[in-house]
Amino acid sequence: MEKIIDEKQQGNSLVMEPKTENKRKLFIESYGCQMNFSDSEIVASILSKEGYNTTQQLEEADLVLVNTCSIREKAEQTVRKRLEKYNAVKRINPNMKVGVLGCMAERLKSKFLEEEKIVDLVVGPDAYKDLPNLINEVEEGRNAVNVILSKEETYGDISPVRLQSNGVSAFVSITRGCDNMCTFCVVPFTRGRERSRDPQSIIEEVNDLANKGFKEITLLGQNVDSYLWYGGGLKKDFKDATPMQKATATNFAALLKMVAEAQPKMRIRFSTSNPQDMTLDVIEVMAAHRNICNYIHLPVQSGSDKMLKKMNRLHTREEYFSLIDNIKKLIPDCGISHDIITGFPTETEEDHQDTISLMKYVKYDFGFMFAYSERPGTMAARKFEDDIPEETKKRRLSEIVALQQEHSKYRTSQFLGKTVEVLIEKASKKSDAHWSGRNTQNTVVVFPKENYKVGDFVNVKISDCTSATLIGEAVGYSDNN
Ligand code: SAH
Ligand code: F3S
Repeated sequence: MEKIIDEKQQGNSLVMEPKTENKRKLFIESYGCQMNFSDSEIVASILSKEGYNTTQQLEEADLVLVNTCSIREKAEQTVRKRLEKYNAVKRINPNMKVGVLGCMAERLKSKFLEEEKIVDLVVGPDAYKDLPNLINEVEEGRNAVNVILSKEETYGDISPVRLQSNGVSAFVSITRGCDNMCTFCVVPFTRGRERSRDPQSIIEEVNDLANKGFKEITLLGQNVDSYLWYGGGLKKDFKDATPMQKATATNFAALLKMVAEAQPKMRIRFSTSNPQDMTLDVIEVMAAHRNICNYIHLPVQSGSDKMLKKMNRLHTREEYFSLIDNIKKLIPDCGISHDIITGFPTETEEDHQDTISLMKYVKYDFGFMFAYSERPGTMAARKFEDDIPEETKKRRLSEIVALQQEHSKYRTSQFLGKTVEVLIEKASKKSDAHWSGRNTQNTVVVFPKENYKVGDFVNVKISDCTSATLIGEAVGYSDNN
């Protein structure tokens, strides 16, 4: 999703505005995709009604929750290491309780309690509303597990507390689960079947964010283009909906238009788009609304038709190219990024070259690249031998990473001398005298602070660039303020 907060990166523990009446302390940290970060905000909201304020001090926590990722083996190892750290802290603070949330909780279920003695509580992604009961159980000295996946739960009625708030950008979740069953992917098993959230509750959340001064939202889902609201229920049951429900259903293009028109000054982003589900009407809605950012994260995974088929990606290389062509036709300056996996079972050098030639055709702005990691229970794990040697996976990975680097540099250099609109998000990591924000294409832009402030829309003239960053100087406020 826009984008994986990579497992190499440390988990983020974040805090909310404290409530004075709350006496207990929650330390919550998240690994993996943006959906986990967004879910942790829902969890903090549920627990703030149970007497918990968040803390960034692990040592003072009454309750530690870790929101976990299962997407690759390394992501799981990172969490296991984190549990060791909690263990050390628990020796000093024996009353501290530890809970595991998210995809590892769902995948391992009560096995977690056997494997990791530190864990008191295991809660899957659809069971967060049960947390107050589960915590009671734990306080009475019993371990507690709820990993039931739901047909309806979207947390649409919960107003998330904004944990990572710079007060400027926020996530708004619109769908949960995934029905696509890509053969390598564990997500359909850990997050269940696909369901969409009531558009009315989405609009209310967006309006509320606008009232609080937020300037940018990202609509989140494993597969946003598959969004379909017909009154509740699973996407796969839409075929049994009444004629009335079918006639009045809201798809992603319609939702996007509603959101963009409800808040014309708010920047709208969305993630993730699956090529097989992205339709022309979505691109048309993007083109027709200035406040919808010109950026699409469009994972492809491989450039080889043989691999795409084996991965159960339901499109061909040619179909992907025509989607790219349509995007560039309707939105010529659209930023496009990808996810690619190297070393999927049976991948030959020729398949790998197909990936390279696909990348050369698209010249992505940036991308996220991974060596294939076999996940237990997936179709690929059951049916295909993980037969590509680790060195080969790594070598192919470094080749595509190097190529992406070239393409990124090519894309950023296209901005030299141009003026772009930037939403200021925070101080630059490298220099406190500079602001950092993004342009509509999602490329990071840094420039001297002058008298501008976080949340301003500023026009920045670009004079220099690296492969990842544009560097320039502000030439005034944009007309979007
Ligand atoms: N649709 C989701 C995809 C989540 S997984 C989204 O919202 O982004 C993100 C990326 O991780 C995938 O696009 C894929 O490139 C990579 N990935 C998934 N399973 C993997 C595996 N078993 N090994 C290596 N990479 C994997
Ligand atoms: Fe995974 Fe494919 Fe869904 S990558 S999240 S099964 S679209």
